[in-house]
Amino acid sequence: MTRVAVCNQKGGVGKTTVTLGLVSAAIESGRSVDVVDLDPQASATWALGLDGDTGLAEALSSAATSAAAETFEPSPWGEEVRVSGGGAALEGWLPDGGPKTSARTLSKVLGKADAETDWTFIDCPPGLGPITVNALSAADLAIVVVEPSAFSNNTMASVADLVDDVWDRFNPDLDLAGVIMNRLPAVGKEAQVRFDELGKIVGRSAIWKPAIARRVIVGEAQGARRSIHSYRSRAHDVVDAFDTHMRKLERIKKKRDAS
Ligand SMILES: Nc1ncnc2c1ncn2[C@@H]1O[C@H](COP(=O)(O)OP(=O)(O)O)[C@@H](O)[C@H]1O
Ligand SMILES: [Mg+2]
Repeated sequence: MTRVAVCNQKGGVGKTTVTLGLVSAAIESGRSVDVVDLDPQASATWALGLDGDTGLAEALSSAATSAAAETFEPSPWGEEVRVSGGGAALEGWLPDGGPKTSARTLSKVLGKADAETDWTFIDCPPGLGPITVNALSAADLAIVVVEPSAFSNNTMASVADLVDDVWDRFNPDLDLAGVIMNRLPAVGKEAQVRFDELGKIVGRSAIWKPAIARRVIVGEAQGARRSIHSYRSRAHDVVDAFDTHMRKLERIKKKRDAS
């Protein structure tokens, strides 16, 4: 099992879209996947075909070891996908979920619930608050999703700092796997300017290639609660990009497992 936290301070950049795309690519390649949806908006839970929360917020409030095991529910996307989410109730869990909650609560509550699963993706809410800190504390890898905009670039340094801080204080196993750029427009110079600018902030090699193109089909697939791979013929470039990124994750996992 390898856990990946998908995060950024900024909303609307595509954290959920990238989570769903990676899930889609992972199951396409025969992997089993768990999704932990930490966003009170529960978009990932919904897009994966489940309604309402599956009890994760309650499990987190109890702060009991492995309390999350019962909260994973199968997704209509396929037998190999399970989802655990807290929905709106997560708003109440934090920032002050009471004396029992800490940066390591999610890690403790997940326990070995996903030990038999190949990949666990943790979809974070926008922000760098306690929920994201918990996600990073429970994760092996962090992926930061950005869009080619000035506002997005402005948040990059603080996200990278938070990953460093969590690594330092709570989770020595955490690595910043990379940055995925999403919503790349087909035309316009602005995106290239922002890509170059981001490269200066995080280093060019940290930005995974290719970027995810901005495509109407992405929203359509989400609205239909289907995986992007089920639209393969109409979404080639997006599907290929997620496949490439999933292969990159597999290589990182292999390296980590070997060391
Ligand atoms: N590559 C893309 N092409 C087209 N629409 C996209 C793309 N990525 C995200 N969107 C749309 O942008 C909105 C925000 O994306 P979302 O993944 O929910 O962001 P976040 O989880 O970071 O808040 C959604 O309506 C989503 O469908
Ligand atoms: Mg989201």
